Amino acid sequence: MEGTLLLIVILGAAGTMHLGEACGEQTCPAAPDGLMNVHLIPHTHNDVGWLKTVDQYYYGAQNYIQHAGVQYILDSVISQLLLDAKKRFIYVESAFFWRWWNQQSEGLKKDVQNLVQEGRLEFINGGWTMNDEAATHYSSIIDQMTLGLKFLQSTFGECGRPRVAWHIDPFGHSREQASLFAQMGYDGLFFGRLDYQDKENREKNKQMEMVWRGSDDLNPPVADLFTGVLPNGYNPPSGFCWDQFCSDSPIMDNPLMEDYNVDAVVTNFLSVVDQQSQHYRTNHLIMTMGSDFQYENANLWFKNMDKLITLVNAQQTNGSKVNVFYSTPSCYLNSLNRANMSWPIKTDDFFPYADGAHMFWTGYFTSRPTFKRYERLSNNFLQVCNQLEALTGMAARNGPYGTGDSSVLRRAMGVAQHHDAVTGTAKQAVADDYNFRLYKGWNSCQTLISNALSNLMGTKENFVFCTLLNISVCPFSEAAKTFNVILYNPLGRSVTWNVRLPVNGRKYLVLGSSGEPIRNEVVPVSEFTKAVRRDKGQAEQELIFQAVIPPLGISKFAVGALTTQGLFVKPKKLLQYPNSIQNKYYQVDFDPGTGLIAGIRNLEKGISLPLTQSLYWYKASAGNAGSAQVSGAYIFRPNQTEVEHVTQKVQTYLVEVRKIPPLH
Ligand SMILES: *[C@@H]1O[C@H](CO)[C@@H](O)[C@H](O)[C@H]1NC(C)=O
Ligand SMILES: *[C@@H]1O[C@H](CO)[C@@H](O)[C@H](O)[C@H]1NC(C)=O
Ligand SMILES: *[C@@H]1O[C@H](CO)[C@@H](O)[C@H](O)[C@H]1NC(C)=O
Ligand SMILES: *[C@@H]1O[C@H](CO)[C@@H](O)[C@H](O)[C@H]1NC(C)=O
Ligand SMILES: [Zn+2]
Repeated sequence: MEGTLLLIVILGAAGTMHLGEACGEQTCPAAPDGLMNVHLIPHTHNDVGWLKTVDQYYYGAQNYIQHAGVQYILDSVISQLLLDAKKRFIYVESAFFWRWWNQQSEGLKKDVQNLVQEGRLEFINGGWTMNDEAATHYSSIIDQMTLGLKFLQSTFGECGRPRVAWHIDPFGHSREQASLFAQMGYDGLFFGRLDYQDKENREKNKQMEMVWRGSDDLNPPVADLFTGVLPNGYNPPSGFCWDQFCSDSPIMDNPLMEDYNVDAVVTNFLSVVDQQSQHYRTNHLIMTMGSDFQYENANLWFKNMDKLITLVNAQQTNGSKVNVFYSTPSCYLNSLNRANMSWPIKTDDFFPYADGAHMFWTGYFTSRPTFKRYERLSNNFLQVCNQLEALTGMAARNGPYGTGDSSVLRRAMGVAQHHDAVTGTAKQAVADDYNFRLYKGWNSCQTLISNALSNLMGTKENFVFCTLLNISVCPFSEAAKTFNVILYNPLGRSVTWNVRLPVNGRKYLVLGSSGEPIRNEVVPVSEFTKAVRRDKGQAEQELIFQAVIPPLGISKFAVGALTTQGLFVKPKKLLQYPNSIQNKYYQVDFDPGTGLIAGIRNLEKGISLPLTQSLYWYKASAGNAGSAQVSGAYIFRPNQTEVEHVTQKVQTYLVEVRKIPPLH
């Protein structure tokens, strides 16, 4: 827990409130000072893939897996909003809204534009997805937010700009995410998931709302962001769920009929308000009225909320101080701002997230590791694609290799940032779909990059992209006797890179761009790598050479196989562990009993670094008497405190590379 440090921060100090717009603060409902104002937030949470793929969710396909259809949700909500000016709705995931928008008639698009201008349909968060905060890289977070926000801006203008960040479902929250949101100009952040004990404490001490100081380095208030913990995750209060998926009673308001329940509903609601008000500081309360894929039949929700509002507010004539209305997170935030409070300050993460004892959501930090790697690599490739597109313009899009388009990979990367994607918590078929999207994005970028390189270099080469070097596979370099290697450096500084290409020759001549010979080595592909690649590649050797690539530049090397045999040493399985190996910079010592690394010495600086290397694994819990919780994709739960050795002794192979003096 934090100390008791309090800081007075006026909301909106970091961002700017845009007043005077039709959609701005003045469209918010009246919330009189003497009353307890309850902001009902009609909302739906639409995962960009989870149990079903993003496209299946959009269309409502495969409803036997999970009943969910985003197109129907938007159809239904929009028609409800058009019928009644009091109603409001927020929408969050631009990946879905973009799909829907592209399929609407011009007439309906005009109607929706009006709803946005009037502040009744409000975009919240607005990124392509609601990104994860633990397994993502900040560069891809910025890209996916940019993609969604640019779509909203070009479609709806300033009124389409979300003021509030809404991370109701990600599994814990990072300080860096708060800093990014603050720097993007958001006025506040709301979320649902935090450690259960932290939440209990915050409720008790009325610290559910705070100012999150996102950075130690940026001067306040640059990375400061008002942050609110929602009272019920992102669900409605218990007893008030009126979606078709819920089983709470509707409001049955004809006294002549059986099961008339108006008095009970009103009493329950007033008691929910009373309880919630004990955890929050102002005379405003926020209630999320919705949940996963709800509002497919929006009438159910709105019809009952209409009655709730009328019935509860009618009690004011009898002295009730509770005032309920349709609202949005930005209107709630405006009310807090006007309350002119001081808020506790928060400086660290909301990680790890536990929703109970033995339920730490840290499993997803490592779930589906190969997808996590592919996602990171795809980010690098997208930056290359973007840069070459910017450098060569239209010539990159349409050229000798066909039509290339960076937006395929950009959208696939946006989808991959979703909190069930890069986290590895989606079903296998959905993970396959995420991979396939990235793969199609790579293809489109490869065409674009071929066009761009050909334009920049003034030649039409037969480009081959070696995308499986992680398992030493590149059919082209394995078979070709001579070829060129072209390297592009997307960084703003020069890079020295060890090129490793699967080959089948034993000796090579490598020439740099001005014909100078480049020192190279040929080493065998290990049996371990062969076991991983299986029948995908045939290379027996790898050609290794060092390339220096200028910032944002291209380096080209010519490679030719020499017929000379020899100079090549097969790896020896050592019968005895080596005590050490060294070059002129480093010496690495090994434990003579286990073969594991025992120390590293920097020979130039004379520094010794003792080091113990061990390989362990945790056995997963299958649930026990203490808790039924099993270890899985979301939650990491070892079945005992002690770790198990993967192995106590390792096998050591020594690959000796004959030093080849520079040719000529
Ligand atoms: C207010 O209280 C009176 C007396 O108890 C009752 O008759 C009336 O129905 C109440 N009004 C509402 C709106 O509940
Ligand atoms: C806000 O509160 C401060 C003291 O905390 C006070 O000086 C200031 O006048 C208040 N502003 C408004 C608009 O009420
Ligand atoms: C190698 O990378 C590809 C994509 O670039 C990926 O699909 C594959 O799983 C990776 N192989 C291994 C063994 O990690
Ligand atoms: C942990 O799991 C292993 C099996 O994977 C089992 O042999 C062992 O008894 C378990 N330990 C505890 C403390 O449950
Ligand atoms: Zn979700």
